[in-house]
Amino acid sequence: DPITTPDIISSCQESTSGFEQKGALRTGKCCPPNLEKTIQLFEFPSKLEKTRKRWPAHKGSKKQVDSYKKAIQAIRHLPDDHPHSFVSQAKIHCAYCNGGYTETGFPDKEIEVHNSWLFFPFHRWYLYFYERILRKYSGDDDFALPYWNWDNPEGMKIPQIFLEDGKQNPLYDEYRNPDHLPKVVNLTFSTDDYLLDDPAKQIACNLGVVYRDLTSNATNSEAFFGGKYTAYPGDPNNPDKRSAGSVETSHNAVHVWVGQAKNPTSSPNGEDMGNFYSAAYDPLFYVHHTNVDRMWKLWKDLGTAGHSEPTDDDWLNASYVFYDENENLVRVYNKDSVNIDKLKFDYEESKTLWKNSRP
Ligand code: C2O
Repeated sequence: DPITTPDIISSCQESTSGFEQKGALRTGKCCPPNLEKTIQLFEFPSKLEKTRKRWPAHKGSKKQVDSYKKAIQAIRHLPDDHPHSFVSQAKIHCAYCNGGYTETGFPDKEIEVHNSWLFFPFHRWYLYFYERILRKYSGDDDFALPYWNWDNPEGMKIPQIFLEDGKQNPLYDEYRNPDHLPKVVNLTFSTDDYLLDDPAKQIACNLGVVYRDLTSNATNSEAFFGGKYTAYPGDPNNPDKRSAGSVETSHNAVHVWVGQAKNPTSSPNGEDMGNFYSAAYDPLFYVHHTNVDRMWKLWKDLGTAGHSEPTDDDWLNASYVFYDENENLVRVYNKDSVNIDKLKFDYEESKTLWKNSRP
């Protein structure tokens, strides 16, 4: 059976998995506010709604950047227990990834959307609602999220809009690794960094990683999306094979690279980006994920045989529950995440040098 997020209100519990609680810089109390709403079925945006294009964060127009900062500032000013608040949005990730929810009837089976075929669709939905919420607070009908264009040499550093103006900047986060702020991201980073000190070499290495993630290491849906994850107890003849898809692995590297170096007293979990429970407190989280989501589109657009979504019913019918921009609770299914035309968002084009960068 498909993984089915229960009613996220009554079933939610404190998150305690996957992070060190002692000295943690953020909280594991991640359950969403209860507005006593019943869950509605998702409806696609109207066919008449315009498609907005997400833009590379290193080259947004003044209007794009201003609207984005304005919206983030506005949700930071909402009370924490508002479902649209900066904190509530950050806690969604913590609840879904660190044990906030369990499978209906199996309180010891925590739902975890990473390291499996839920990775791409879950995050696509998360961003979908986040973008519509921010659009509302931006007051800009053209609002679309930026993407951190780490597959393009010109976009491989943390985008400047996240670094300028210090603490006044709504995109500022104090829990980032200061050594990495001015550097080219390392798409194979792990805690024991070998540091390619030459940015040109790092760029070449990154392009090779993206090439492999979208081609040679992603020749079928399992390799790209990750391994099967279904509701307990599953089918003994066709058991779960949870594993990370090709892009998820380099995605993890970016998380750890942005977050602080782990330190038992000052940052036991590599906060913020270095652990799922705290990652979404950094606005960079969302623009990292828009680019991850863009990789899904680019992989499909390559048009290679095998480049298509899983067709298993247990993938198609897996579902999650979110608050939408009108504070309604909505249940959404993987199958409805596939067609971004119907979801009315797209990506501005950007250079794809990785296509010529077979390692
Ligand atoms: Cu839900 Cu980048 O992780």
